[in-house]
Amino acid sequence: MRIIAVMSGKGGVGKSFVATGLAAGIQRRVGHAAVLDADITGASVPHMLGVPRSARVDADGRFVPGLSSDGIRVSSMSLMLPSDEKAVIWRGPLISRAIDQLFKDTDWGDAEYLVVDMPPGTSDAALTVLQTLKPHGVIVVSTPQDMVTKIARRSQDMVRQTGGDVIGLVMNMAYLWCPHCGERIEAFGTNSGGGSDDLPLLATLPLMPEWAALADRGEAAKAASDEFDVLADAVLQHLDTGTMPAGRHV
Ligand SMILES: Nc1ncnc2c1ncn2[C@@H]1O[C@H](COP(=O)(O)OP(=O)(O)OP(=O)(O)O)[C@@H](O)[C@H]1O
Ligand SMILES: [Mg+2]
Repeated sequence: MRIIAVMSGKGGVGKSFVATGLAAGIQRRVGHAAVLDADITGASVPHMLGVPRSARVDADGRFVPGLSSDGIRVSSMSLMLPSDEKAVIWRGPLISRAIDQLFKDTDWGDAEYLVVDMPPGTSDAALTVLQTLKPHGVIVVSTPQDMVTKIARRSQDMVRQTGGDVIGLVMNMAYLWCPHCGERIEAFGTNSGGGSDDLPLLATLPLMPEWAALADRGEAAKAASDEFDVLADAVLQHLDTGTMPAGRHV
C-alpha cells in the first residue's frame, strides 16, 4: 500500500479538505483509495465524506473501515464514538498509540493508496505518523500568509529530519471571487509560498463557499474535482517515478 500524508504545521488551513479531495481524485483515476484519519481528537474525515458511523470488527478482530458512497475506505476514531460531539481527551502517548492501532488493526482490503489526514502541528502525533507509517510522500498544505507558509516550511523540515519525502505544497484558500463584482480577492495576501525547487507548488486552490458547503454535508468528494484530479495525477506519477508531470499545476 502506498501512503501519502497530508500535513501542515498549522490548524484550519484545509488539510482534511485536501486529504479527502486527493483520495477522491485517486479513487476517480485508479480506484483503491482509502483515508486514515490520524487526527484522533479532531477527526473530521467521516463527516466530510459522508461515511456513516460504525464500529464493526471482523472475525480476526480487525476494524472494518467505513465506506464512502464512491467506495473510499475510511478508518477514523470518530466512527467508533457514539456521536460527533463526543470529545476524546487523551494525552500524547495514548493518541500516538491510537494512530498506530487505527493503521495496523484496520482491514484495508484491496486499498492501494492510503491518504493520511494528519493532525495539526509538528508534535507527538505527527511524529508518530512519520515514523510509524513511513509515508511514501508528504503533501504540505498552507494558506498564502507569510507566517503560515513559514509554519508549513517547518513541517517540510520535520519530514526531512525524519527521512521522509515531501512531494510539494498545496496553497489553499489562495483567493476568492467577489459574488457581486466578480473581482478576485486575495484575502490572505499573495504569497505563493512555494514554487521553489525544494518545495514544488502542486496546486493553488481558491476559497469557494460551495466547496465548504459540500464538505459540510458529507459530499467533499465532489468539491474541486477537476483540481483534485490533476493533483491525484501528480501524486500518482510521483509515487511511480519520483518525478512530476511537467507544467501540470492547478
Ligand atoms: N478551498 C476551500 N474552499 C472552501 N472551503 C474550504 C476550502 N478548504 C477548506 N475548506 C473548509 O474550511 C474548513 C477548514 O478546513 P479543514 O477542516 O480541511 O482544515 P484542517 O487543516 O484539516 O483543520 P484542522 O487543523 O482543524 O484539522 C472546513 O470546513 C473545510 O470544508
Ligand atoms: Mg483536519
